[in-house]
Amino acid sequence: MTADKINVLLIGGGGREHALAWKLAQSPRLAELHCAPGNPGIGEVAQCVDLDVSDHGAVIEFCRALSIGFVVVGPEAPLVAGLVDDLEAAGIAAFGPSAAAAQLEGSKGFTKDLCARFSIPTAAYERFNNAPKAKRYVRERGAPIVVKADGLAAGKGVVVAQSLDEALDAVDACFEGEFGEAGSEVIVEEWLEGTEASVFALCDGQTALLMGTAQDHKRVGDGDTGPNTGGMGAFSPAGNLDQTTIDEVMTTIIVPTLAAMAARGTPFIGVLYAGLMMTAGGPKLIEYNVRFGDPECQVLMMRLQSDLLELLLAASEGRLLEVEADWSDDAALTVVMATRGYPGAYDKGSAIGGRLEPGDSGRVFHAGTAMKDGQLVANGGRVLAVTAIGGTLGEARENAYARVDAIDWPEGFCRGDIGATQGESA
Ligand code: AMP
Ligand code: GLY
Repeated sequence: MTADKINVLLIGGGGREHALAWKLAQSPRLAELHCAPGNPGIGEVAQCVDLDVSDHGAVIEFCRALSIGFVVVGPEAPLVAGLVDDLEAAGIAAFGPSAAAAQLEGSKGFTKDLCARFSIPTAAYERFNNAPKAKRYVRERGAPIVVKADGLAAGKGVVVAQSLDEALDAVDACFEGEFGEAGSEVIVEEWLEGTEASVFALCDGQTALLMGTAQDHKRVGDGDTGPNTGGMGAFSPAGNLDQTTIDEVMTTIIVPTLAAMAARGTPFIGVLYAGLMMTAGGPKLIEYNVRFGDPECQVLMMRLQSDLLELLLAASEGRLLEVEADWSDDAALTVVMATRGYPGAYDKGSAIGGRLEPGDSGRVFHAGTAMKDGQLVANGGRVLAVTAIGGTLGEARENAYARVDAIDWPEGFCRGDIGATQGESA
């Protein structure tokens, strides 16, 4: 018997959601795909709907009116705000963690305490709720040292301080409210030396299924210079993770985390995205995210051969042991094109032209675009994720940059060295 087809609502409107929508749209199990709010790229494969996703009642009403059988939540904010809890309480199946399980991303202190209790390898740390104590600890430990605001700070709120003064200033900035509520508690932790990589695991509360590896480039400028961004590019698979190391990450980090979350009565269902440092002492957890990365999702979806909808349904229904994920041996790489000025102030509304159509080796995912009088325009900081595959990372790079060259958008810029250094990621 073939399973019934279902209507799906995808929450989000960035490059990650365009990649998810593109992949969901290929599923034989899909009836209709809706996306709130979506974007013009997503609009090619889904019906975009202008819903206020922070109004959970409105989302539930929409799901009932359109007979939505499954909601897939892309970004972290609605997860931390409990959208999945409210949907499920209303009898609507949803993919993503409960608010309680989303604490793995929503509170760095929560995650650090969990690691400490269950011997999950991570940087040594202390939590503080006032500046004098935090500063005393910083002085005791010395630089380099890392200062973090506890809560969600949109990719900001972490200072890797090379000097004592920088660390002390970071403590002040947090407690003086630079990161709002997120900084009312501060974590000071050991600086880890090594290269970074990300491991993604699909989780059903008990079982974890590897959903690929990636590395990304966080800094705005070539050679990993300039301020941090949400990510200027990524590639998959990660160049610094062999199978033995991936197995070690699963057994020492991911699986114990799932067990710990289940034991405290808040099982983790969703995508667990582990940001890792490969240190001389083995892989250590830097942080968790409770969703796919953006732009990491774009490269993972290019390599995924299996039916994404079936995998996400299996995770939300506790059936991950029954399914497998097949991956292409190809490498995938994405180059983010951003509006000049990003991550600082930038203008919206510049026209985007040139070749945006997909081809055999790649496609352009829309991150921050809009349609204005029939013209595609930039509508955000990160605007396009120009994504390609290749037999090797080098080929994927060449294919992606050839696509970048075919886009006509003078107000946009990108890094020229995505995947060239294979070093850092975040
Ligand atoms: P996070 O938001 O926690 O991922 O931190 C942002 C970035 O800061 C990471 O991707 C790392 O590059 C860096 N970072 C965070 N924690 C540490 C640490 N303990 N040691 C070294 N670098 C770190
Ligand atoms: N690219 C980093 C993130 O999605 O958090």
